[in-house]
Amino acid sequence: MRLPSFVRSFTDVRTYLHGFRLAHFYSYSHVREVRKMRVGAGASFAPNVSFRNGERIVIGAGSHIGEHSVVWAGNSSGSITFGEKCLLAPRCVLTASNYAIEQGTPVMDQPKIEKDIVLGRDVWLGAGVVVTAGVTIGDGAVVGAGAVVTKDLPAQCIAVGIPAKVVGYRPAAGTSAAVTTEVTSGAGT
Ligand SMILES: CC(C)(COP(=O)(O)OP(=O)(O)OC[C@H]1O[C@@H](n2cnc3c(N)ncnc32)[C@H](O)[C@@H]1OP(=O)(O)O)[C@@H](O)C(=O)NCCC(=O)NCCS
Repeated sequence: MRLPSFVRSFTDVRTYLHGFRLAHFYSYSHVREVRKMRVGAGASFAPNVSFRNGERIVIGAGSHIGEHSVVWAGNSSGSITFGEKCLLAPRCVLTASNYAIEQGTPVMDQPKIEKDIVLGRDVWLGAGVVVTAGVTIGDGAVVGAGAVVTKDLPAQCIAVGIPAKVVGYRPAAGTSAAVTTEVTSGAGT
C-alpha cells in the first residue's frame, strides 16, 4: 500500500536535511550579510531578501526592500548604496557586477567587472525592476514595474521599459491629488 504523501515527507530524513540546507542558505544570503551592512534607522527588508558582500551595501534610513529582492554588491569593489526612504517592491534585482563575456571561455569562469550602483533618496523601484552595474538613479525617481535600468536616470523622473527610458517626471506637490479627486468624483457619481 502506498503511504500518504505527508507520511512520506515526514519519514524521509532528506526532508530534515533540506530544512538545514534552507537554514544555511538564509544564514549566508541574509543573516550574516545584514550584520556587515550599514543600515540607517528605521530601514527594513523582507526576511527573504538575498544580500551578498554586505560590507559594500549601505541602506539609508527609512528605506524598505520588498520580498524576494536580490541586492548583490561585488566581491571586491562594486558597492550598492540606497539613499533615505527608498522603496523597492518585491523581486527587484540589483547587481554591482557583470561577468566578462569574451568568446572561448565559459562565462562563469571569466572575471567579474564591478561597478557601483547608487540610488538617491526617495527612489521607488516597482515590482521586478532590474538595475545593472554602474547605474546611478537620481533622488525621487520612479521606475515602473518590470523595467531594466542599464543607464543613469535623472532625479524625479518616471522611467519604464527595457531598457528603462524616461517617460515623464513626477508631478509637483499637490497636483496629482487634485487629479485623483476629480477622477474619483466623476467616476463615483
Ligand atoms: C510607472 C508607474 C508608477 C506609472 O504610473 P502612472 O503614472 O499612473 O502611469 P499610467 O498607468 O497612467 O501609464 C502611463 C503610460 O505608461 C505605461 N506604463 C505604465 N507602467 C508601465 C510599466 N511598468 N512598464 C511599461 N509601461 C508602463 C502605460 O501603459 C501608459 O502607456 P500609454 O500612455 O501608452 O497608455 C506604474 O505604472 C508602475 O509601474 N508602478 C509600479 C507598481 C508596483 O510595482 N507596485 C508594487 C508595490 S511597491
